[in-house]
Amino acid sequence: MNIQPSTNLLYEGKAKKLFATNDPEILWVEYKNSLTAFNGQLKDSLTGKGALTNQISCFLFDQMNKNDIPTHFVEQTGELTHIAKKVEIIPLEVVIRNLTTGSLCKRLGIKEKIRLPRPLLELYYKDDDLGDPFVSDEHALLFGWSNENDLSEVKRMALKINTILGELFDSIGIILVDFKLEFGKTSDGKLVLADEISPDTCRFWDKDTMEKLDKDRFRQDLGDVLGAYQEIFNRLQDAIK
Ligand code: TMP
Ligand code: ASP
Repeated sequence: MNIQPSTNLLYEGKAKKLFATNDPEILWVEYKNSLTAFNGQLKDSLTGKGALTNQISCFLFDQMNKNDIPTHFVEQTGELTHIAKKVEIIPLEVVIRNLTTGSLCKRLGIKEKIRLPRPLLELYYKDDDLGDPFVSDEHALLFGWSNENDLSEVKRMALKINTILGELFDSIGIILVDFKLEFGKTSDGKLVLADEISPDTCRFWDKDTMEKLDKDRFRQDLGDVLGAYQEIFNRLQDAIK
């Protein structure tokens, strides 16, 4: 079927709009140029940002599909758009950390930029009003945000994704510091990786210079956010040549 978007806007978030299509199981995703941080307290718009995050995310989801990680991603349909399977999102943000930085250091007083002996997996409850609080497996199970089977599969997939992405970025001179994933269930009950993987949701540091090439440039007011995102896109293009 030739998928066409409808004008029926189903959802508008901080970074994306979701439209219904002529297939009830398929959504039309349109990336926005807006950038937010600290739960929306810091806001800006950057022309060209949406095209970069969409294209980077499409590229990385395609790599996941090719590596037997089931995802919601179907195909890119334009610079700013792609189509994806409709899913019910599990309300957990899964963060994987390879090096220490960000909220981990703030919360626990841990030193910055230390490589962890193994990846650290954390769960956050996806609720903007509460500021996405840190939670344990026990909270996730007890309050029914997930179940034992799904949660162990989510963790297995997240760690596999970390290995695949880590090697890919290493091959283009970038350290995958940490990142956030979201998972969902399709209407037939299949668990899939969803949302996005981009410099908005990952931390990328240049291997040689340790320069930050992700949304921390915006969070910390380091300048040239677009240049950093473009650099990630360019290097990924080189990775497949
Ligand atoms: P943190 O150090 O602020 O907890 O962030 C860990 C990783 O998760 C980092 O790569 C950025 C990403 N992240 C999101 O994608 N969305 C969010 O809302 C937050 C807080 C972090
Ligand atoms: N994505 C979150 C926000 O929009 C937080 C962050 O990435 O820092 O506020």
